[in-house]
Amino acid sequence: MTNARYTTNNVGIPVASDNESLTAGTQGPILLHDHYLLEKLAHFNRERVPERVVHAKGGGAFGELVVTEDVSAYTKAKLFQPGAKTEMLARFSTVAGEQGSPDTWRDPRGFALKFYTEDGNYDLVGNNTPIFFIKDPIKFPDFIHSQKRLPGSGLRDHTMQWDFWTLRPETAHQVTWLMGDRGLPRTWRHMDGFGSHTYQWINADGERFWVKYHFKTDQGIEFLTQDEADRLAGSDPDYHRADLYKAIEGGEFPSWTLHVQIMPVAEAENYRFNPFDLTKVWSQKDYPLIKVGTMTLNRNPRNFFAEIEQAAFAPSNVVPGIGFSPDKMLLGRVFSYADAHRYRIGVNHAQLPVNSAKAARVDSYSKEGNMAYSFNDPQTPVYAPNSFGGPHADPERAGDEGLWNFGTEAVRAGYVQHPEDDDFGQAGTLFRDVMDDAARERLVGNIVGHVLGGTSEALYERIFEYWRNVDEELGKRVEAGVRAGA
Ligand code: HEM
Repeated sequence: MTNARYTTNNVGIPVASDNESLTAGTQGPILLHDHYLLEKLAHFNRERVPERVVHAKGGGAFGELVVTEDVSAYTKAKLFQPGAKTEMLARFSTVAGEQGSPDTWRDPRGFALKFYTEDGNYDLVGNNTPIFFIKDPIKFPDFIHSQKRLPGSGLRDHTMQWDFWTLRPETAHQVTWLMGDRGLPRTWRHMDGFGSHTYQWINADGERFWVKYHFKTDQGIEFLTQDEADRLAGSDPDYHRADLYKAIEGGEFPSWTLHVQIMPVAEAENYRFNPFDLTKVWSQKDYPLIKVGTMTLNRNPRNFFAEIEQAAFAPSNVVPGIGFSPDKMLLGRVFSYADAHRYRIGVNHAQLPVNSAKAARVDSYSKEGNMAYSFNDPQTPVYAPNSFGGPHADPERAGDEGLWNFGTEAVRAGYVQHPEDDDFGQAGTLFRDVMDDAARERLVGNIVGHVLGGTSEALYERIFEYWRNVDEELGKRVEAGVRAGA
């Protein structure tokens, strides 16, 4: 059946042919002014963005988190309040394999979640294991290099893998998971997810707790045998991606029950395992699971590239009521992801529909950059602080930054004041002792000209006071000049 609509180029202009290029006669060369052909070939050459340096192969779906219990004693995060229902996105992945690699290679599985909350987007970027191979971010590039490919042959290499694992014994716990059943989940629906790191929860009274997230699959844990996985790697390399897609398409919506473990801050220091060491779990005998709610995936992406490939998850995206912890790996990841997105997708990746806030308003002072699409009202100032009603930071959030005692305090306090430090002293010395009369005269003239050249009466008093603080005489001269010219 022919569609009634005409094919257009990328700016909506109808094109003459979908099938034949424009040539000089039937045997002649292709003409350079066949701009539709050029656009088509050039756009095709740019269809791929760099694949994720890890977790390149994956798939995902949208859904919702519904909070059925009351954990408000531990966090004020809006998405975890009783009855809250939050739209979300999940992406599952393997770690080491590239875009086209089989879903059933033995590997941990990524379990990345993005919650579109009223306080901005919250990303929980975890795995199907509660721990990890290493405990310091400085080892991450080495670890990943050892799991990927040899530089010469481009082949995967078990020697590299075991060389690294055995040289770094902190890998033992995760390698045990990896070599066991959890290294080959039957489907993404049949595996648990974990935040893995220790995070911080902060309640409405400002009390802090250490927290670990557990998403327990409601489908039950199922795994593949090595033989099954090997066979599927050949016959159905997209087995997991297809399984999730088909299940949701068929109305069989997978769900996970979210539980947390909560550790009072005071108990961390003397706990039998370092609670911030990502290679360790907290015993559930010591810290039992506390139920929070249910996450259900119920909507497939409409476009895999736009909504899954370009999805950008970042552990730095935490909302009020949630904070970081002394886990060094987590702190390293807080840098790494947004940096990766700027490279992989672009500096304005947060403006893409899948990554943009849906339930919160964005009031950022970021502007422009490659592919800028959204922008503030033109009346909104582009700098802070300002006197013209632009957004201002919320000092209350300092309490949310989830600071902890690490021998000293993390502060936003500026510089230590030395005896002669003030903002105006050295500017005054420059005016009085360094400049000669002619330079002082030019300075006054320049200031007066600049002020008269576009500021308004409303700002004058602040400007005069500013210069009086630098030097009383300078202030008076500026005021006199401005008043005379105004
Ligand atoms: C993806 C870095 C540890 C889970 C990524 C990406 C980078 C990265 C650069 C690609 C991001 C992108 O291009 O979109 C790191 C570093 C780590 C670390 C530097 C250690 C310091 C971990 C840990 C976990 C994890 C411990 C799980 C607990 C994931 C997941 C993805 C990912 C699930 C895929 C996210 C998606 O689906 O888009 N990581 N990673 N990573 N990482 Fe990590």
